[in-house]
Amino acid sequence: MTDFNRPTYHYLPAKNWMNDPNGVIQWKGRYHLFYQYNPHGANHANMHWGHAVSDDMAHWEELPIAISPTPDAPDRGGIFSGCIVDDEGTPRAFYTGVNEDYSIQTQCIATGSNDLVTWETYADNPLIPAPPVEMGQTRDFRDPFVWRADDGWYMVVGSRIEGVGGAILLYRSDNLTDWIYLNPIYIGEAARTGIMFECPNFFKLDDKWVLLISSHIGHTTGTVLYFVGDFVDHKFIPQVEGVLDSGYHYASLSHEDEKGRRILWAWLREGRTVDQDIKAGWSGIQAIPRILSLDSQNRLLMTPVPEVEILRGQHHHFSAQSLTDKQLSVSGLSLDISATFAINDSADIYGMRVACSPDGKHGVTIVYDRRIETLQVQRVYAQSDAEHDDYIQGLPHHLEGDEQLELRILLDGSAIEVIANHRTSVTSRYYPAQSDHHHVQVINPTVIASLDIWEMQSIWD
Ligand code: FRU
Repeated sequence: MTDFNRPTYHYLPAKNWMNDPNGVIQWKGRYHLFYQYNPHGANHANMHWGHAVSDDMAHWEELPIAISPTPDAPDRGGIFSGCIVDDEGTPRAFYTGVNEDYSIQTQCIATGSNDLVTWETYADNPLIPAPPVEMGQTRDFRDPFVWRADDGWYMVVGSRIEGVGGAILLYRSDNLTDWIYLNPIYIGEAARTGIMFECPNFFKLDDKWVLLISSHIGHTTGTVLYFVGDFVDHKFIPQVEGVLDSGYHYASLSHEDEKGRRILWAWLREGRTVDQDIKAGWSGIQAIPRILSLDSQNRLLMTPVPEVEILRGQHHHFSAQSLTDKQLSVSGLSLDISATFAINDSADIYGMRVACSPDGKHGVTIVYDRRIETLQVQRVYAQSDAEHDDYIQGLPHHLEGDEQLELRILLDGSAIEVIANHRTSVTSRYYPAQSDHHHVQVINPTVIASLDIWEMQSIWD
């Protein structure tokens, strides 16, 4: 039986569990994606680095596992998240090596072959055996992100200060193996930003510095936060902050490609139970990569890479005049939707519904409410059950002056990526019960300025 919950144009390995993107790099023209992977099942255990390659960030080929744990070494319990850098032509991977119960987390290095297919872990791992003593704890210390600056190499690592909150720690090196701790570049407050920070990314965008942090706040799924500011004398001074995505988009990782674009990758978690994941035989997908930029107020903007547009098949265009009915003639679970709404006094709510049952009672409503200036994703199942998340997701969304509402919706099986006006992102997961739960509706046809829907082709055909 076809698994219509399984995405067909987002990358996921043939089977088993995947989580964070690790070490994404464009190498000799090709995009290499490494990721947290369990070769033995669809649950989080036995962490290795899986590997896939692409020429266009749309079509992928799964390659053999790249990095595996070594018995008796500091990474014997798993190869946790990290990054890859180009060390003058030699690929170097940085990752967190963990012991069996993850109570010892250390920063390690591996060197790749010229085609990035085989990797050798360093005999003298770990590079950094423990967090600085002033953290007051030794357990949480992971996800190194490394970059080259004019005066050497830098690394940020996610950690926490006991009793305070998450902390991002800055290290420096001249040779990539000897690292010196400098200082925290960001310390959170447990109640507001969470007790532990994972997967930090720190990079220059235009003339600002951007810090991305994954934190277990909000719903059980966790949230990616962003901070934009200046980086002076090894100190980060955040000036603008926001939520990068309030949803299933987690453990983001960015890199600069050969065109100089800052590309964002992320794991889209599942919204169902582990038992359901195991039954399906797969868990976790990669988000469609997004190009990051800053607007005039230094807010982070996100746009899915134009490369995915090559997957667009049949096109349906609707104008305000041609739309008379809420229910559209187009249906399906692999769609790229681009909708613009004219905001005016005639309506309070604007948006689309996807994955709807034929009678329209069940499905996913993506709605902007101008009275409360909020973008929400509401999931309605025939029956609420403990197997599927159905809490209401949302983020504040403020439209300025006569700005129209622009919605981009990437629907793919159980995955729904929603971005409003390039700056408010709420990614969701929804598992329709039957294959005819694939109808598309507009909430209010009279306020649509323009609507384009493309049926997306599978990347595996
Ligand atoms: C984030 C994370 C990382 C860790 C990895 C383990 O999702 O918890 O902090 O390195 O997953 O798989």
